[in-house]
Amino acid sequence: MAASSTGWHDAGQASLDTRFFVDDGLWRDAPMLTGKGSFEPRADVKNILVTGGEGFIASWLVRHLVTKYSEAYNVVSFDKLDYCSSLNNARMLESRPNFNFFHGDLTNPDDVLECLRRYKIDTVFHLAAHTHVDLSFGNSYNFTKTNVVGTHVLLESAIAVGTIKRFYHISTDEVYGEVEKDAADLTEHSSLWPTNPYAASKAAAEMMVMAYARSFKLPAVVVRLNNVYGPHQYPEKIIPKFINLLQRKRPLWIHGDGQHTRRYLYAGDAADAFDTVLHKGVIGQIYNVDSRDEISNLDLARQLLDVFGIANAEGWTEHTKDRPFNDRRYAVDGSKLRKLGWKQSVSFESGLAATVDWYGRFGEWWGEIDAILSPFPVVERDQVVSTPLKAGCAPVPALTEEETGVGAKEEHAHAMVNGHNERNGVAAKKRKAGDMA
Ligand SMILES: NC(=O)c1ccc[n+]([C@@H]2O[C@H](COP(=O)([O-])OP(=O)(O)OC[C@H]3O[C@@H](n4cnc5c(N)ncnc54)[C@H](O)[C@@H]3O)[C@@H](O)[C@H]2O)c1
Repeated sequence: MAASSTGWHDAGQASLDTRFFVDDGLWRDAPMLTGKGSFEPRADVKNILVTGGEGFIASWLVRHLVTKYSEAYNVVSFDKLDYCSSLNNARMLESRPNFNFFHGDLTNPDDVLECLRRYKIDTVFHLAAHTHVDLSFGNSYNFTKTNVVGTHVLLESAIAVGTIKRFYHISTDEVYGEVEKDAADLTEHSSLWPTNPYAASKAAAEMMVMAYARSFKLPAVVVRLNNVYGPHQYPEKIIPKFINLLQRKRPLWIHGDGQHTRRYLYAGDAADAFDTVLHKGVIGQIYNVDSRDEISNLDLARQLLDVFGIANAEGWTEHTKDRPFNDRRYAVDGSKLRKLGWKQSVSFESGLAATVDWYGRFGEWWGEIDAILSPFPVVERDQVVSTPLKAGCAPVPALTEEETGVGAKEEHAHAMVNGHNERNGVAAKKRKAGDMA
C-alpha cells in the first residue's frame, strides 16, 4: 500500500492498461453529443472539475460544458479509467484549449489535491462512481471504496484547497429504494431506503456531502436522477446491453419475471439538467431529475425487438434468476427542477432510435465487450473477466412463479414500501422540502 491518509489506496491504482490509450480513430467520425441548451455563464465559475469524465453521463456533461461554454469555462475530466470508461468519450475535445484530462484515482488524496490545485478548480461536478448494481452484489467493497471513500477524499480535498465555490454531487433515484406501483412519486424530502449495495453506497456518499455542507459550509448541491440512457453508455446496463445482444443476433436475458420497471432519461436531457442546476439551482438544495418514460424490462425488450424489425419475440428473450433483491420500480418527482426551467425534451422512442443507430455505427467504442454481454457479469482487477453460468446465475428459459419467488417477493416489497411511506411522512414534517441543511 502506498502511504495515504485513507489507507484505502493501493499504489498505482489508476489504470495503466494500455488498451485505454490505443487510439483507433473511431471517435473522429462520431457526432459531438451534448445537451441542447445553454445559459448566460456565471461570473463566479471559471474552472470546472468533472469526476468520472471518461464514463457515460459525465462525458455528456464534459462535452456539453466544453463546447457550449468555450469562452467562459475551463473543464477538467478526472478519471481513473476503469473498465467501463473510454478516452474516446472525450477525445473529440482534445484540441480545445478549455479541455484537460487528468488521469487520477478519486480514492487517492494526492491525485485529487494535485488536480484541484493544478487547475485552480472552483466548481466540482462529482460523477465518478462504481455504478453497476449487478456487480455490487458480488463486488461490494469496490462500491464502498469508490463511492463512499472516494467521495470523502474529494470532500476533504475540497475543504483543504479552500477554493471550491460550488460542489454538485450526482446521485440516483435508487437511494430512495423501491416505490410501490401507483404510490405517489417521491420528492426530495422523502427518506432514503436503499436496497442494494450500490444504492447504499450512493446514499452513504450523500450523507458525507451533507455533513460537509453542514460542518464545513461546503457549498453543495445534490442531484438525484432516474435511469439515464443513450450513446456512450458502456454496454453493461440494460439498454446498450440489449442493443449489443441484438446486433449479435443473441437473445435478451431478462432478470426474474421482467416486470420491474424503470424510468429512462436521455443523456442529453441529463446534461441539460446539470446545466440548469449549475446556472439556476440554489446552493444547499437537492434536486430530483425525473423522466415520464417508465417501462418494464420485458416491454423494453419487446420495443427493442421491434426497432430491430423482429416481429415474433419468441425465442428472443430468456428469463434468468433474479438479482438478490430487485427493486420493482423507482419513481421520483422532479417538479422542483422543472420550476427552474428544465424539462425532459427527448421522447423515449426517439432517444432509443438514436441510441440504436449510434451503437450500430460505433459498436467498437470500448474494444472487445463480449464478456460483459452475460446475465451476471463479473469484474476482477478492473476487467470484465467472465460470463459466469454458475449456480444462481444460469439462464433458465422459463421460470415458474415458485422458482422466481415473485409472489413472496411482492408481499415482502409491499410491506417494506408501506413502512417506507410512513417514514417519509414523518421526515417530511421535520424538514423543509429538499433542503440539505
Ligand atoms: N447510469 C445511470 O442510469 C445513472 C442514474 C442516476 C445516477 N447515476 C450516477 O451518475 C454518475 C455517472 O454514472 P454513469 O452510469 O455515467 O457511470 P459510468 O460507470 O459510465 O462511469 C463512471 C466513471 O467513473 C470512473 N471512476 C470509477 N472509479 C473511479 C475512481 N476511483 N477514480 C476516478 N474515476 C473513477 C470510471 O472510470 C468511469 O469513467 C454516477 O455517480 C452514478 O451513480 C447514474
